Amino acid sequence: MSRGTRAVIDLSALQHNFRRVKTFAPQSKVLAVVKADGYGSGAVQVAQALADADGFGVATFAEAVTLRQAGITQPILLMEGVLDPCELQQAAQQRFEVVIHQDWQLQMLLDTAIAAPLVVWLKVDTGMHRLGLPPQRVLDVWDSLRTSAKVSALRLMSHLACADEIDHPLNTSQRDTFATLAKSTGARTCSFANSAGIVRGEPFHYQWVRPGIMLYGATPVNEASAAELNLKPVMQLESSVIAKSVVPAGQTVGYGATWKASHDTPVAVVAIGYGDGYPRHVSKDAFVLIGGKRCPLVGRVSMDMLTVDISAVPDAPINAPVILWGNGLPVEQVARWAGTINYELLCQVTDRVQRVYQAH
Ligand SMILES: Cc1ncc(COP(=O)(O)O)c(C=O)c1O
Repeated sequence: MSRGTRAVIDLSALQHNFRRVKTFAPQSKVLAVVKADGYGSGAVQVAQALADADGFGVATFAEAVTLRQAGITQPILLMEGVLDPCELQQAAQQRFEVVIHQDWQLQMLLDTAIAAPLVVWLKVDTGMHRLGLPPQRVLDVWDSLRTSAKVSALRLMSHLACADEIDHPLNTSQRDTFATLAKSTGARTCSFANSAGIVRGEPFHYQWVRPGIMLYGATPVNEASAAELNLKPVMQLESSVIAKSVVPAGQTVGYGATWKASHDTPVAVVAIGYGDGYPRHVSKDAFVLIGGKRCPLVGRVSMDMLTVDISAVPDAPINAPVILWGNGLPVEQVARWAGTINYELLCQVTDRVQRVYQAH
């Protein structure tokens, strides 16, 4: 018997979600965002399965190197740019595209000898106030880059802060600021939309879109579920029952004795815990699926195990498969119980959880 704790990665669902991106933004090229190890699903396997992607977006230099070493030939964009001259030189050698979001990065590019000119994406801060040049600096910097022999192509990008909220005023103000800058720079290649921006429609799309979360089959917007957007879950987190007992009325379960049986209750131990990335803090509403039936968590989640009331499936055997999230139990639901977001849960599945790849 194996522990049964695994993340099943459905590459067909990933490809389906990619096609959904193309349906939302048919005119745009797609930079598939595969940072944080492909949102926990495995950056290399995701990139290999997305052969039709026009490029890949990563956060760190090491993530880009991993993709190149695995034989990924499409453009790879370092979405935070490079951190030092050495990375810059290697970026040129490995044909990574770079973001420039502040003057120190511009200066570094101008001061550093590189083997080949780079594709540069100038990032502008249209209102998120995280990375990006202030709009009033953009024209100057655009001109310095446009005339530099170190730049083979110059592009404009920005990032949305609140596109998950349909009515947030930043959506339109960021969109208008970006549209103005796209016009004043004369940029022919621009990128603005993350997944939520893709769902928000054509004014957000431009020449390249940058989907992350929707590729993984999770919803990027508050007002619609993944199923309503016709996105299919890519990661299903699974485990299995490793022990069963009947907890007598009045007895408690787990650390801190936080749950007390009001009547004799059949309880199963499931071989997954916060050491695997299942969140320790979930509300009292949390459940898992065993045989398609909802089994509420009882007691605290521990590092390697959690305990569930199996009154709905009292005959579930040792080794019975358990779904923590995936088909029939969206990751968003678990995120709500844990007071977090789908992104965090997908990314924090730990290394000891085997990723098992399926395509059908
Ligand atoms: C610059 C940039 N573009 C695109 C994305 C993809 O965002 P999402 O996963 O919301 O689609 C991210 C992720 O945070 C990002 O940082």
